[in-house]
Formats: sequence, C-alpha cells, structure tokens
Amino acid sequence: MARINDNFLKLKAGYLFPEIGRRVTAFTTANPDKAAKLIRCGIGDVTEPIPAAAAQAMHDGIDEQTNRDTFHGYGPEQGYGFLREAIAENAYAGLNISADEIFVSDGSKCDSGNILDILGQGNVIAVTDPVYPVYVDTNVMIGNTGEGDADGRYEGLVYLSCTAENDFVPAIPTEKVDVIYLCYPNNPTGAAATREQLTEWVKYAKENDAIIMYDAAYEAFIQDENVPRSIFEIEGAHECAMEFRSFSKNGGFTGLRCGYIAIPDALTGAAADGSRVSIKQLWSRRTSTKFNGASYPIQKGAAALFSPEGKAQVSALIEHYMANASLLRTACQEAGLTVYGGENAPYVWVACPEGVTSWDMFDKMLNDASVVITPGSGFGAAGEGFFRISAFNSKANVEEVCRRIKEIF
Ligand code: MLT
Repeated sequence: MARINDNFLKLKAGYLFPEIGRRVTAFTTANPDKAAKLIRCGIGDVTEPIPAAAAQAMHDGIDEQTNRDTFHGYGPEQGYGFLREAIAENAYAGLNISADEIFVSDGSKCDSGNILDILGQGNVIAVTDPVYPVYVDTNVMIGNTGEGDADGRYEGLVYLSCTAENDFVPAIPTEKVDVIYLCYPNNPTGAAATREQLTEWVKYAKENDAIIMYDAAYEAFIQDENVPRSIFEIEGAHECAMEFRSFSKNGGFTGLRCGYIAIPDALTGAAADGSRVSIKQLWSRRTSTKFNGASYPIQKGAAALFSPEGKAQVSALIEHYMANASLLRTACQEAGLTVYGGENAPYVWVACPEGVTSWDMFDKMLNDASVVITPGSGFGAAGEGFFRISAFNSKANVEEVCRRIKEIF
C-alpha cells in the first residue's frame, strides 16, 4: 500500500489564487457579456514587458547555446558566478553579503517552501496574520502543524496579528518561537517595517536563538528612504536571518522565474546533539541534490537587470506600478473607503465597509464592477474585513478600475 502524506489532508481549501481563478471562471461563464470588461487586480502578477536589457541578454544567452564553443550544459546548482556576484555587488552593496552566500533559484515561492527541507521537526513557527499563504501551507504539508480550525488557523502555529493599530507590523511575541516569517514590504497589506521595528525583531531572534525568514520580494517598491531594504541593514541580522528575494516583481520575471536566497555564513541552527550547524552548508547540500540551477539564459537576463540600462528600465517599471498604486489609493479614499499600503508596495489594502466580509466584497467587485480583487480573509483570519487590490496592471486598466470603484461605492 502506497501511503500518502496525510498532512496534505489538513489543508483547508485549494490554494488561494487558483480558488479565485475558479470563481472568476464560473462568473465569466455565467456572464459572458461581462467577461470582456473583466479587469484582474487579484493575483500580483506583472503585466508590463520585461526590460529590454534583460531581453537582449536572454537572446544572447540562447545564441550561446547554439554554438559548441559557447554552449552551457548543467550550470552550478547555486547559480552562475556572474549573477551571484552582480547580486552581492548591487542588491547587497555595503551589507556584507558575499556571492558565495547567495543561492539563485527559480523563484521565491519555491524557495520559501523548499527551505523547510533543512529545518527539523518540532520548531515553534510564527507567521503573521494576514500572511502570504505559502508560508502556512508549506508548514502544514511538512507536518509542522496540527489541524486547521474554522478560521483556517492551524494548531501549533503562532499567529502574530497585523492590524491597523500596529500598522500591520506585529508585536514581538511574548512566548519563545524558533522560526519567524516576516515579509516587508508586506504582501498582502502593503505595509513597510521601520528600522526600529526590524531592530526589535533581530534582538528577539538573537535572544531566543530563532531564525527570521525575511521575504523581501517587494524591496524594489520602497519609496521611503528611511525604510530598510534588507534585513541585513540591521546589526546582528547576519547571525539570525536569511533573506528571500525575487526578480519577479521588479524585473517582470513572473513568467521567466528567477529568485535567490541570501544565507550568511554566520547563520547556524542546532543539531539534535546541540552542536551548531551552518544553515548555508545545509542549503548548499540540499540544493546540489535536488536542483540543477535556474536556466542559463534566464540568469543572463537577471544579471542584466543590474546593468546601468537594466537598472533604469527596472526603475521605470517600478515607477509605473507605484503610480498605479497611488491612483488606486486615491480612488478608494475618494469612494469613502479606508486605505492602507500602496506607498512602499504594489498592494493597496482596503477596509471593507462596516459589516461587509472580504468575500462579499470580492463578489461585489466582480458582479458590480467586473474587477477581480483578493479577499483579505484568504490571507488569514485577521484579513477578514479587508480586500487587496494589486497595482500590477496597465495604467489604462487601473484608471478604469478607479472609475468603477467610484461608481459602485
Ligand atoms: C500574490 O498575489 O500574492 C503573489 O502573486 C503571490 C506570489 O508572488 O506568489
């Protein structure tokens, strides 16, 4: 008898975004007249073409594959040196992260799930609520939780509430936890964590021998120069944190797939006998066994994002999406809604009118405005009463969404 991983049976519904996709398909099938008008501001998927510098580098990378002299077969599992060096020199300039502390992958979603391979059983895991669902579901899948309750909260996880009162940056736990997932700028709330808040988290992690999994996938969208772009700007973070980053949102690589984790040499965890083990060494071992590296042309394209032209083209993309976020914020405010986020992140987090649930709002936006949003409760119990609008879209679509929002409220 082939046994399955019973932990999967604990998972509540389908993954959030396919579930939204299913509901949208049902809606467009039932309302073919509205299908053409539909504007998707649900999943945070980029819409604009990739930077020309990246496209050219990928073309060149393909051309190299057509010539025996420049052909590349299997690449280094950890990523090509040219990309890891570009990341260290640009993304981590002055932050004491070297190329050999960087692991290139096919994206942050995979990284943030796969990392659990190298952590042991029995860790107390803290997640924010609301939260990027991948952190929770992957912990459920691997057996780090008990059953879920009616609100979708799993026994055994420590949920750190993010509310308007704490600016969507959770208070330090009163209990001891071993692993903490933090994502800033935040998906879904669009909140940014201040230097003081992150300093408190690093202090807590060091005092409690915990590891912070810091997801900085939206770092490029930070507009406020006082907001840290990396956890490694905080003193002591190299001993207690790893950082996930992605080319998906800044370089438009959601369909191309490339991301990376920075794991400092100084980061260690405890073995069963109490000895300290390098997290980087474990991840390196895991990577060389289970991964053959992101594809060569894609890594060429990612490295080109750090060239002078690439940087300028990425800045233009960020400007485009953040201008959309600003339009969405203003439209919601003018419609009388309370708005958060959207200033250092491409997500606008909106409070539903009194007494209206997140899924009611999803239905209203779909039925009355033909706009897809993401219901806040899909990100966790504390997301109930909110909805998220993604700014990843064309300007024309966003202007139309703004017009429709003002029309229906
Ligand atoms: C989102 O909409 O939350 C993101 O697209 C999810 C992701 O990046 O995987």
